[in-house]
Amino acid sequence: AAPAQDDLKRIAAHRAVELLESGMVVGLGTGSTAAHALDRIGELLRRGVLRDIVGIPTSKKTEAHAAAVGIPLSDLHAHPIVDISIDGADEVDPSLNLVKGRGGSLLREKMIEGASRRFVVIVDESKMVPCLGGSGLAVPVEVIPFCWGHTLGRLRSLFDGEPGFDAKLRRAASTGDGGKGEPFVTDNRNYIVDLFFDNGIHGDLDLISDKILRITGVVEHGMFLGMASSVIIAGKDGVTVLDK
Ligand code: A5P
Repeated sequence: AAPAQDDLKRIAAHRAVELLESGMVVGLGTGSTAAHALDRIGELLRRGVLRDIVGIPTSKKTEAHAAAVGIPLSDLHAHPIVDISIDGADEVDPSLNLVKGRGGSLLREKMIEGASRRFVVIVDESKMVPCLGGSGLAVPVEVIPFCWGHTLGRLRSLFDGEPGFDAKLRRAASTGDGGKGEPFVTDNRNYIVDLFFDNGIHGDLDLISDKILRITGVVEHGMFLGMASSVIIAGKDGVTVLDK
């Protein structure tokens, strides 16, 4: 039988963990794919295959998971240079640009992965897209809660005229993220505005990134441009590794 999607996530995660060496400072990603990497690192530490790993978690959820599987933790303040980060992504385009942040952890992810010598992305093949924003999933933007409606309006006017464009405040799906139906609250106590594009984001992505970041009230967005060193893609026909 063809491997299930979660098996593919695990295969990609285990392949990435093979890149770790004892003594490394490791950026620990967030999400269901990165969770497999945490479990594997914990297992290799317990077996003594890996020693002296220091993990830098990209979210509170990852911090709790990593602690539970026995990964010693630190932060960017104590370890400003990270040897390698391993994380999933929502979308990967042919130039290895990413959309991340469906789980809402994009800000800490971008800080830690941006401080990494090597950033390894782990995905199952469903995450590969010809164009970012084109799979119907959102491009998330973290905004400060103060007058978020104003910031949302400014984001809207940036993409005025884009066919099928929409911007929505993310609402919590369950309690714990801020209460069901309430604004989704990030680990940094901010909100998320999700941008939707019918046919993906076209044009100069760096320019679009700059325009989003210039809006006062925007903290960060989920496009990770030129950041990935490699992408490990697990598919039903095997594993493919794309290097920058
Ligand atoms: C978390 O905010 C995200 O950036 C995740 O890394 C991304 O959503 C991928 O998650 P899955 O591995 O669960 O698909």
